[in-house]
Amino acid sequence: MSPIGVFDSGYGGLTVLREIRQLMPEYDYLYLGDNARAPYGPRSFERVYEFTSEAVRRLFEMGCPLVILACNTASAKALRTIQQHDLPQLFPPTDAQPDGLPSRRVLGVIRPTVEAVGELTHSRHVGIVATQGTIASQTYELEMAKLHPDISVTGQACPMWVPLVENYEFDSPGADYFVQRDIKHLLDHDPLIDTIILGCTHFPLLYHKIRAYTPRHIQLISQGEYVARSLHDYFSRHSDLAARVSRGASARFLTTEQSSNFSPAATLFLGQAVEAEHITFGN
Ligand code: DGL
Repeated sequence: MSPIGVFDSGYGGLTVLREIRQLMPEYDYLYLGDNARAPYGPRSFERVYEFTSEAVRRLFEMGCPLVILACNTASAKALRTIQQHDLPQLFPPTDAQPDGLPSRRVLGVIRPTVEAVGELTHSRHVGIVATQGTIASQTYELEMAKLHPDISVTGQACPMWVPLVENYEFDSPGADYFVQRDIKHLLDHDPLIDTIILGCTHFPLLYHKIRAYTPRHIQLISQGEYVARSLHDYFSRHSDLAARVSRGASARFLTTEQSSNFSPAATLFLGQAVEAEHITFGN
């Protein structure tokens, strides 16, 4: 079995896995949630890199030719180092690799989202709501400057949104308070924003609240479908890699936390109850 690895700090990446499987149900998938060490949002660059790199190595050991970092915080803080430093050392290109890329790959969620937004904004003013780690890294700003230099980007850290979702408080008065407050801060900073990226894989669970406090003319972008389409496109450009993924239409789930917690969360984030297996990382 050589599945597509999907990694997240916790449950949020299941919203991305859901969209990828919908578009490409034929592949095998192996999901890993580092629930015991989540949330990553407030953690330093060093810790997020260390944890993400450890998880990616485990997914490689379990046979994945490709790992998707379905987590903005990990994509913002660890992806570049993994791509530029770890992969060329661990999996140098072989003669069978015509493109000269490492034989195993890691992709993130930020670039596909930034690519898509270029065609979605008319005012060319875009807002990002995300964890404090993602906002502090300025990765969205950097990617936007490369791909769409005419777009102005304003980030808003929303540190309470992930805890609200993780504690099943997404429909509570607390969620109303924090979502309304943070959307207001964002739009006070730039009233010309016509597109807001939900730059955290947990935030689709707060969609209805965010929609309620965002003026109708502003569109909200959930990443899952763009990440899925981008992966589909990547496979058509890298057919050698796609051919190395097994096609048994299965999904297996791993968590670093107690596996009994996983199923209720999966019902919410993935839309189905699934059994997860517990794994640990040796420290
Ligand atoms: N899944 C993470 C993201 O997309 C947020 C959760 C966390 O802070 O660990 O940024």
